[in-house]
Amino acid sequence: MALTPLICPSILASDFARLGEEVRALEAAGADWIHVDVMDGHFVPNITLGPDIVKAIRPHTTLPFDVHLMVAPVDPWLEAFRAAGADILSVHPESGPHVHRTLGRIRQLGAKAGLVFNPGTPLSVLEEVVDLVDLVLIMSVNPGFGGQTFLDASLRKIAAARSILDRAGSAAHLQVDGGVTSANAAACVAAGADALVAGSFVFKGDYAANITALKAGPGAA
Ligand code: DX5
Ligand code: ZN
Repeated sequence: MALTPLICPSILASDFARLGEEVRALEAAGADWIHVDVMDGHFVPNITLGPDIVKAIRPHTTLPFDVHLMVAPVDPWLEAFRAAGADILSVHPESGPHVHRTLGRIRQLGAKAGLVFNPGTPLSVLEEVVDLVDLVLIMSVNPGFGGQTFLDASLRKIAAARSILDRAGSAAHLQVDGGVTSANAAACVAAGADALVAGSFVFKGDYAANITALKAGPGAA
């Protein structure tokens, strides 16, 4: 029996003019975590938001803030996002010179540490730092924009990450991000994911119905 994944809507697809309200609506709709995409216009070709915005929306929900940092260098920003209310800080191995140190620093700050793999980034890094991660995020699109199409090769990578985590006896979450819809959510879970990020899919139409559809599993599409 497939487990029910955690649903982590990305506020990248929300109405930025009503961010507090959007976050409250996501909590009411059954979201598990709030996924916050931070982009610097350098590591990825887009700019989104900084710690002041995270701080501004923090009082609007008690849900964990899952902050995906697409920023390089990333180390100088960890403390500010943690202070702003991030519960999970996820970093790309390419975004700082010493990912082992970065992951240790995140835990030192009292946050959960996430490691993110772009479609072109091999999972070999995970073998080296598996004891330092609380979450592994497999990107199923290249980072930078919402609304892209899910890359099917990601399913194989999710399964490979699952076996590395299981072999290491790790209880880390395995999350997928990019182009997730009710048409591929069940396949992600079957491959071993337990947390799904979704932007466009959640915000198009009824939030609660969309979140339920992502949780529903095979046949729900
Ligand atoms: C892409 C971001 C994703 C993105 C997901 O760089 O990390 O979180 O916003 O959006 P959708 O679900 O629309 O692909
Ligand atoms: Zn993201």
